[in-house]
Amino acid sequence: MTFAHATDVLNRHNQGHVLRFWERLDAAAREALLAQVATLDFESIARMRGMLAAGGGAAAAGAPEPAGVVTLNATARGAAIARGEAELRAGRVGVLLVAGGQGSRLGYDGPKGAYVIGPVSGATLFYYHARKVLALARRHGVRVPLYIMTSDTNDAATRAHFEQHGFFGLPREDVFFFMQGMWPALDAEGRIILDAPGHIFLSPDGHGGTLSALAASGGLADMERRGLTTIFYFQVDNPLVEVADPAFIGLHLLEHADISIKVCAKREPQEGLGVVVMRDGRCEMVEYSELTDEQKNRRAPDGELVFKYGSVAIHVFSLPFLKQEAIRPLPLHLAHKKIPFCADDGTVVKPEANTGYKFEKFIFDVLPDAKRVVTLAFDRADEFSPVKNATGPDSPETCRRDLQAKWARWLSAAGQPALPLEIDPAYALDAEELREKSKREKLKTEMLKC
Ligand code: UTP
Repeated sequence: MTFAHATDVLNRHNQGHVLRFWERLDAAAREALLAQVATLDFESIARMRGMLAAGGGAAAAGAPEPAGVVTLNATARGAAIARGEAELRAGRVGVLLVAGGQGSRLGYDGPKGAYVIGPVSGATLFYYHARKVLALARRHGVRVPLYIMTSDTNDAATRAHFEQHGFFGLPREDVFFFMQGMWPALDAEGRIILDAPGHIFLSPDGHGGTLSALAASGGLADMERRGLTTIFYFQVDNPLVEVADPAFIGLHLLEHADISIKVCAKREPQEGLGVVVMRDGRCEMVEYSELTDEQKNRRAPDGELVFKYGSVAIHVFSLPFLKQEAIRPLPLHLAHKKIPFCADDGTVVKPEANTGYKFEKFIFDVLPDAKRVVTLAFDRADEFSPVKNATGPDSPETCRRDLQAKWARWLSAAGQPALPLEIDPAYALDAEELREKSKREKLKTEMLKC
């Protein structure tokens, strides 16, 4: 992009101030700024400005009611597993991992997936995810492609981490990295914020950016080329996740769902998980912050919370639905933040108060478009313990504790003492596999390897 072109585009969109420090910039800074301008998505920026001018998001209309939740009895579970395993064996399941976030609460300087979580081995979050995909591919004798969404801030480091660890045993041609979009932040007047004279403040466009990024990167086309039908979606911060759990995949298929969602009972009414609701006849996710205190604490006659279940961002999508949604603009969510900005004299100000607006898209905003949504309850002790915070709840400490408690349950089910070990997913993907292996071989006290 040339300076003249950038000036023209920016002026047309009332963002001419972006180049106001041009004369002070050296050649490299000018080039970098023009490259940033070239990435700006002015259609979305116009929507952001519209949202700011309208004073934020549109207020929801009707009152939310909790969506129905499926719990599988042994027979239904068996049928779902059989259906899910058939799909896996047919090589029609792909795995989609979103790892583009900034992990600001954890405060780790690197991609969150490269964070060391293994209590004994020192393995990283990516290790567990990749080894589960490897184990699935081996168990079912097929290729299971892994699609990993990164962002501009962690793409190179994520790829390097996989290289450094030999892709954790996965065939490299079955790992597809793609980058989500980056969006600028706006000030109260809708002007793009510069955080240095030659630099636009940009941040990832939210996990909802997965859809457009999958389409733009060729990820969707790759899924189609491989003949996939069903995509398992999860987040990088939860090493307990049961990747492509056959019962979940099978239920999704038996129910002909567009999207299926795993939910678990909230720890307490105030826990910050989204809730799947029906509102005005449509399914949607209500963020924790959107529920009133009365709604969070409301109890049914049996004493249970009415909005009892929270979503932990473990989903299954049908590929046609993903394709359909990839070309629809998702709603925007706005957050008022402390964003450094460049004053008119070119000095950088780190504000004490929230002065800028960041915008994001959320993956669950596809829900109202789905013709059929299935919500499946699971036991959080087995499948959910995220690394969100540096300390306290949902921290590395609680996650390691929960990982070891899960492995201890597997060992106990196999009639083994709860040794201080780790179970490599590629050694045993579940309790049943561990039990079978322990009949044949002696378990070691260090991390189990295949
Ligand atoms: P979180 O909402 O927990 O955000 O993301 P985060 O960036 O990891 O952490 P904080 O909020 O800054 O502390 C949930 C999941 O969605 C992914 C994250 O990588 C994580 O797997 N995500 C989030 C993206 O891929 N892109 C985004 O823009 C935001």
